[in-house]
Amino acid sequence: MRITGVVRTAMKFVTPAQYSKTNEAHMVINRAAVTDFLKVHSPLDKEDRLLDFGCGTGETTASMAKGQLGGLGHPSQVVGVDISSSMVSHCQDHHQAPGLQFDRVDVEDLKHQDKFTNQFTMLTSFSCLHWVPNQPAAIQFFNKSLRNNGKFLFVISSTQSEETNILRREWEAMRREKKWAEILAPCSWPHFKTAHTNNSWMSTVDNNGMGHIKQDDYVKLMQNHGFQVDDCQTLPLNYMLTKDFTRNFFKSTILSSFPELKGDARKEFFDEYIARAKQHGEQHDEDGLVNGRVEGIQIFGKKIKKN
Ligand SMILES: C[S@@+](CC[C@H](N)C(=O)[O-])C[C@H]1O[C@@H](n2cnc3c(N)ncnc32)[C@H](O)[C@@H]1O
Repeated sequence: MRITGVVRTAMKFVTPAQYSKTNEAHMVINRAAVTDFLKVHSPLDKEDRLLDFGCGTGETTASMAKGQLGGLGHPSQVVGVDISSSMVSHCQDHHQAPGLQFDRVDVEDLKHQDKFTNQFTMLTSFSCLHWVPNQPAAIQFFNKSLRNNGKFLFVISSTQSEETNILRREWEAMRREKKWAEILAPCSWPHFKTAHTNNSWMSTVDNNGMGHIKQDDYVKLMQNHGFQVDDCQTLPLNYMLTKDFTRNFFKSTILSSFPELKGDARKEFFDEYIARAKQHGEQHDEDGLVNGRVEGIQIFGKKIKKN
């Protein structure tokens, strides 16, 4: 199914300065992924050139350029790319290291991609791909950018945990209650509100392109685009999020979801939903952070043929 009218940028609800505060937790998640990758693959060395897709505020990218992300080793070049110009400028202002660069990339804009072709021996993408609507375009870009036998390692958010994410849990509970069951029946949980295009690879997608990224689907997607998958697992991702992040995510994503709910029913639903979420919600810790309670996929392998 193809959806038109695509919005290709994401995470507009958070500025680089707001986002960089959550990055310590990202580093923990990313380091754990590197540890698993190293159970199968060798560390990188000066022969290696690494592309980090969706670098965000760049802490992980910079630590890879300095040879400091777990035991990943020390590649001679690291290029961090992001679709957001403000993230790229933030990275350029805040991170310097030999062999480290940042650049803007849009996987659906083929014009600027030639400079990446066949340039890299390793590709990482941490907590970005769930925002990308056209996954096959991203994977084609990855295949083109990597040399043969080039490795990849991704951490991809899938969805909010049905058991432990309060917003998701209360939504699921209300859907089962007599008062709400019929009213909420046509509505779907928005996940990250990415409207997936070119999405025939997804078993979870609805008519609006909404659906979460599932392990088995992603493994097949990679295999169908010239990659060997060495390992893939679904696991909890403990993102520690600031109040700004959670508030802005709620406003930009949840409050504008469920378009089927209209008028008084919409108002009544949100009044009750917000009250319940507040009542059961976790407090932010002394650093002002709260666990996002998201589930995700960790996947790695290598390129075995051209697309
Ligand atoms: C959660 S942040 C990245 C975090 C970073 N990789 C880390 O682990 O610390 C996600 C990033 O993905 C970027 N992004 C979203 N959609 C994208 C796309 N289509 N192409 C490239 N980057 C994208 C966002 O701009 C944002 O900077």
